[in-house]
Amino acid sequence: MASLAKELSAAAGAAFDAMGLEARFGEVRRSDKPELADFQCNGAMAAAKAAGRNPREIAGEIAAKLKEHPSVLSAEVAGPGFINLRVSDAALSARAEGVRGDAMAGAEKAADAQVTVIDFGGANVAKPMHVGHLRSAVIGDTLQRLLRFLGDEVTSDVHLGDWGLQMGHLVTELQDEQPDLIYFDASYTGPYPAEPPVTIDDLGRLYPQASNKAKADEARNERSQKAVAEMQAGRAGYRALLRHFIDVSVEALKKDYGFLNVSFDLWKGESDVDGLIPGLVERFKAAGLAELSDGAWIVPVARESDKKEMPPVMLVNSRGGTGYHTTDLATILDRMDTLKPTPERMLYVVDQRQALHFEQVFRAADKLGLIAEDRLEHIGFGTVNGPDGKPFKTREGGVLRLADLQAMAMEEAEKKLSAANLPADMGAEERFGVAKKVAVAALRFSDLMNTRTTNYVFDLDRFTSFEGKTGPYLMYAAVRVKSVLRKAAENGHSAGEVMVSEDAERALVLQLDGFGAALLGAREKRMPHILCEHLYSLAQAFSSFYAALPIASETDSEKRASRLALADAVRHQLETGLGLLGIDVPERM
Ligand code: ARG
Repeated sequence: MASLAKELSAAAGAAFDAMGLEARFGEVRRSDKPELADFQCNGAMAAAKAAGRNPREIAGEIAAKLKEHPSVLSAEVAGPGFINLRVSDAALSARAEGVRGDAMAGAEKAADAQVTVIDFGGANVAKPMHVGHLRSAVIGDTLQRLLRFLGDEVTSDVHLGDWGLQMGHLVTELQDEQPDLIYFDASYTGPYPAEPPVTIDDLGRLYPQASNKAKADEARNERSQKAVAEMQAGRAGYRALLRHFIDVSVEALKKDYGFLNVSFDLWKGESDVDGLIPGLVERFKAAGLAELSDGAWIVPVARESDKKEMPPVMLVNSRGGTGYHTTDLATILDRMDTLKPTPERMLYVVDQRQALHFEQVFRAADKLGLIAEDRLEHIGFGTVNGPDGKPFKTREGGVLRLADLQAMAMEEAEKKLSAANLPADMGAEERFGVAKKVAVAALRFSDLMNTRTTNYVFDLDRFTSFEGKTGPYLMYAAVRVKSVLRKAAENGHSAGEVMVSEDAERALVLQLDGFGAALLGAREKRMPHILCEHLYSLAQAFSSFYAALPIASETDSEKRASRLALADAVRHQLETGLGLLGIDVPERM
């Protein structure tokens, strides 16, 4: 449903339009000086400049029109031509009712919804997931929730890294350990036994084992390279192993992602598009876009306007192998051909450090006519750093695995809960559930609250705190509202009609009014922190309201019923917003 800000913008826009000025000057925003106004419109200055007129005069005419609007209490011109607006208690009351009863908690669908693929997660088969993958998972999943909520038709794809040298390492290392496996038989053609020859722990062990050996011994590395080439060329035994490796990895990944409330529609990977590669290469050649260079097929993508070096796309290397560029291009082809409706946009939520890769791929995809370059977006993000300002490592110096991270977050959440005043009758199972929610809220929110493109410092103690701008703080704020409502209900008090009159109530409804704009802003910029900020301010506005006015203990029954309804509107919007961040709110804590 439309916000007050939007309704007033439309009215102001119409007033500008009636004066022969552009309607966009009518944009109305929440005032940054609440003591002077609820909303303000600053468009008169720009409109005056464009029309060569006096800004205060224009502002005066617009203000006079706005005074006639049913929601407007007063409209005054200030300074060089600002228009300060106050809205009526009745308008705010109706708005709060609207939020409370609305499936979108007061937000509106995007006007330009699109069929969108979100490529995120990007875990690699065999290699452990690290904190960089955590960012992709959390940001990507939040964008998928947000875009869906706002009307985009989203398909998410984990796009596993399952086509590189690591697969060769796994094959050769396994061969050294279990040379008698039928998969190594050159004449193997199947059948494909259901029982995998390895566990996820085997994979975690085999890969570093082989990779270390390969670093010290070029011949060992060559063996793995050769194995990948044979696998890519279709050797049946290696293909069967690949399938097993993927199956075993996916099962483990589903657990890791599941803990974080992260889900995917498609569990595809680089290897899934392998069959499309020969045709894709042919198309590049036939279109005259590919060139032979030192035995490799490349696609030049540099432009005269480029300010930085833009190396060509590597389509087929001199060994005849294909890599990251080619699988990404084939994946675009696959999505355009198989997804229905045909994607209009693809978002890649991947570390900022891969910016060049995506620019190359996007240009090549455009050249071949797969999809226009401006429909492909790299949603980059910064790194997670340790206290020393360098990329986060474990105490032992390795990259942190997601599974260890979960364990650490759970431990820290448990610690914080021990210090909290939990209900006395809370059993172990419920408590464990709450700890898990706290851990997930901490990990997700601390990542999402930062501007996506900046780096942040990993600090579990702060992330799990119930104070400050944290996930657990917001979760607790929502639980508190719920408990106020529950206790009131237990005493036979129910919510009634909202009747705003006090300042703290007005401030709270004005904050509720901004939800839709925050969501649309977060969508447009692909910046979840905008939603985080809104929810944090909402929690604070509720806190002020709760401190200023009695709710359940209010003796006037109409006022009490009104405040309970207002609290319920806050609960609804907080829970909806936190849900979009992938944060669940427990019933009590
Ligand atoms: N597997 C890659 C990595 O770990 C990320 C994949 C990102 N998605 C893509 N379509 N390239 O770096």
